[in-house]
Amino acid sequence: MKIQAKSILASRIVKLVVEAPKIAAKAQPGHFVVVRVNERAERIPLTIADFDRAKGTVTLIIQEVGKSTALINQMEPGDSFLDILGPLGAPYPIEKVGTVVGVAGGLGAAPLYPKVKALYEAGNKVIVILGAQRKELLILMDELKAVSHELIIATDDGSYGIKGLVTEPLRQVLDREKVDEVIAIGPVPMMDACVKVTKERDLKTVVSLNAIMVDGTGMCGGCRVTVGGESKFCCVDGPSFDGLKVDFAELRRRQRYYKEQEQQAYHQCQCGTGGCQCHAK
Ligand SMILES: Cc1cc2nc3c(=O)[nH]c(=O)nc-3n(C[C@H](O)[C@H](O)[C@H](O)COP(=O)(O)OP(=O)(O)OC[C@H]3O[C@@H](n4cnc5c(N)ncnc54)[C@H](O)[C@@H]3O)c2cc1C
Ligand code: FES
Repeated sequence: MKIQAKSILASRIVKLVVEAPKIAAKAQPGHFVVVRVNERAERIPLTIADFDRAKGTVTLIIQEVGKSTALINQMEPGDSFLDILGPLGAPYPIEKVGTVVGVAGGLGAAPLYPKVKALYEAGNKVIVILGAQRKELLILMDELKAVSHELIIATDDGSYGIKGLVTEPLRQVLDREKVDEVIAIGPVPMMDACVKVTKERDLKTVVSLNAIMVDGTGMCGGCRVTVGGESKFCCVDGPSFDGLKVDFAELRRRQRYYKEQEQQAYHQCQCGTGGCQCHAK
């Protein structure tokens, strides 16, 4: 589980190529892993953003949002994870459906990439809309361009591409193309907003939910989400779900459950002394 390579993609976003031959051998688009940095670290889910079966590596892209992701982003080539469990989750079904629009908000580009890559290779027409708050936070532009017929960029502040949210280019593409499927991945409000656009047209829309997870294997119930009025576990039934049926309001509420503890832990981690628990290897 050694890190082979590290690159910085944007402020607080790093890409790690990690030796994990058994996981790489079975990885498919839609899969994720659960990692632990050390014995005291929490277990956190991360998407398999790419994999190379021949080299036995998986690529992880991590955005620092709290204690655990801060700890991971401090790791360097040669460092090892204590363990990486995976591949987990249900693989995304790759079929020839026609025209697919992939919409990524911020870090959503990481889980979107393996799906559109496989859909492109399967012969679909792929249009990707990539959005971020500003130019410096756009990631995987070249990679997404290489696996799409058209790449549309939008930034909230207009520093690159179209000025505004991804929903506007999504509307424009749906007005001019016969689209068979939309995949929208990013922050919950962004996925919710995309679904509002596609719901008007009753268009199949798949989202990838980032519910809080603990075991990642369907045993703790921590990642429960409601889809079509039924309880589902994001880790085993997902993380991809029919966006038209997801209860986004409940997901937002459940994501806030541990906000106070998360902020306390992050603050301690940022103490700068290296003496707090999270720095103990
Ligand atoms: C299937 C799946 C795939 C993911 N893939 C990636 C990825 O490729 N790259 C990436 O950077 N992040 C990914 N995430 C989110 C990542 O797991 C969280 O950002 C991370 O757990 C936050 O831990 P923290 O201690 O740094 O921050 P915390 O302080 O714990 O949390 C900061 C924020 O992250 C959310 N969060 C906390 N714990 C989890 C958790 N276990 N699962 C989901 N969200 C959580 C909280 O709601 C909070 O808003 C994924 C989540 C899921 C469910
Ligand atoms: S993370 Fe425990 S049931 Fe999904």
